[in-house]
Amino acid sequence: MQLRTTSREIRLRSRPSGWPTPENFELAEIPVRPPDDGEILVRNTHMSVDPYMRGRMSDAKSYVPPYELGEPLQGAAVGFVTASRSEIAAGTWVRHDRGWRDYATIPAKRAQIIDINIVPPSAYLGVLGMPGLTAFVGLHDIGGLKKSDIAFISSAAGAVGSVAGQLAKSHGATVIGSAGSDEKVAFLRDELGFDGAFNYKDGKPVGHLRRLAPNGIDLYFDNVGGEQLEAALSVINDYGRIVACGMISQYNEAPSAPRNLMPIVRKRLTMRGFIVFDHQARTPDFVREVAPLVKTGRIKFPESIVDGLENSPQAFIDMLLGGKYLGKVVVRLADADARSSNKSM
Ligand SMILES: NC(=O)c1ccc[n+]([C@@H]2O[C@H](COP(=O)([O-])OP(=O)(O)OC[C@H]3O[C@@H](n4cnc5c(N)ncnc54)[C@H](OP(=O)(O)O)[C@@H]3O)[C@@H](O)[C@H]2O)c1
Repeated sequence: MQLRTTSREIRLRSRPSGWPTPENFELAEIPVRPPDDGEILVRNTHMSVDPYMRGRMSDAKSYVPPYELGEPLQGAAVGFVTASRSEIAAGTWVRHDRGWRDYATIPAKRAQIIDINIVPPSAYLGVLGMPGLTAFVGLHDIGGLKKSDIAFISSAAGAVGSVAGQLAKSHGATVIGSAGSDEKVAFLRDELGFDGAFNYKDGKPVGHLRRLAPNGIDLYFDNVGGEQLEAALSVINDYGRIVACGMISQYNEAPSAPRNLMPIVRKRLTMRGFIVFDHQARTPDFVREVAPLVKTGRIKFPESIVDGLENSPQAFIDMLLGGKYLGKVVVRLADADARSSNKSM
C-alpha cells in the first residue's frame, strides 16, 4: 500500500466571539509522522463535529482544556491502522480522539478497536459513540427513566436526542420531542416512533407541550436550555426530573430564559447536570443494551455526512446553527473501503 507522506489538519486560528466563522479556522499541511514504539498511524475515515467543541474554542475555564491557538483541533474520529509498532495490527479499525486531520499518529493505548461488521464506522461517533452513551447515562443514571414516564426531549432529531427518544420508547415511556423544522418533526413521529413532536420555532414551546402532554411531563431531557427549559418547568409534574445535558441555545448567544425557577421548589423537582466523560465506566452496560437495539433496527441512527476535511469547519458551524442536518453530523475524510481499494489514500 502506497502511503501518503503528507497529511492535512484543521487548526484554530482565532477564538470565536459569539458565533464561530470559517475565519476562526485554518487548514495546514504537515508531514505524516511514522509510528514510534507503541504507536499506530491511523488513516481517519470519519470525524465528529460536536457542540462541546465550541466550549473548547473559548479559553474560559471548563471541564475540558481549551484548544490551543495555532494547534490542530481534537475530537472523536474513526479510521484504520495503516502502520503499527504496537499490538494493534495494520488494517484494524479504531476510534480515537485525534480528529480534524487526515492521519493521526497516536499511542496504541489511546485507540479503541471497533467492529465495523455490526454498524458502519461512522456510527461509532454517534449512536454507539459518545452521543449514544450520553443518552444512555442521561436517561438511566441521571433521569431515573421509568416506564410510566411522559418524557420530553429537546433537539430530539440530533445525535443525543434521537438516541434518547428511541431508548426511552424502548423502555415503554411516552416520548415527546422538539426540533427546529417541520421535516424533522415528521421524521421524529413517522420514522423514530415518537408519540408527539413539535417545531420549537413555530409558536411558543409551552403551548405545544400543553397540547401534546395535557397531563404534564415527568422527565425532561434538556439539550438546549432557554425557552424550552422554561416551558418544561411550566408543565412538569410534581417530583419531576430534569436531565441537564446541554444548553446549546446559550453556546453562542447570551441566555434570555428560563425566568421561572420557582417551580423547582414548589414542584419538588430534581434538576441534575452531568458530563458524559465522568461516566465512561458505564460503556459496557451501554453497549450491552444499545448495540442489540441498533443491530435489530429498533434504534435508528440518522446521520448527515459532509465530505472533506476542508469542509469540516463549515459542517461544525452548520451543526451548531441547526436546521440543515438531521441526526449525527459526521465529516467523511476518506472512503470506508479505502483500506482495501487504496482509494483516497
Ligand atoms: N452533558 C454531556 O456530557 C453532553 C454530551 C454530549 C452532548 N451534550 C449536549 O447535548 C446537546 C445535543 O448535542 P448533540 O451532539 O446531540 O447535538 P445535535 O443535537 O446533533 O446538534 C445540535 C442541534 O441543536 C439544535 N439547536 C441549535 N440551536 C438551538 C436553539 N437555540 N434552540 C434549540 N435547538 C437548537 C439544532 O437542531 P434543530 O435543527 O432542531 O434546531 C442543532 O442541529 C448539546 O447541548 C450538547 O452540548 C452534552
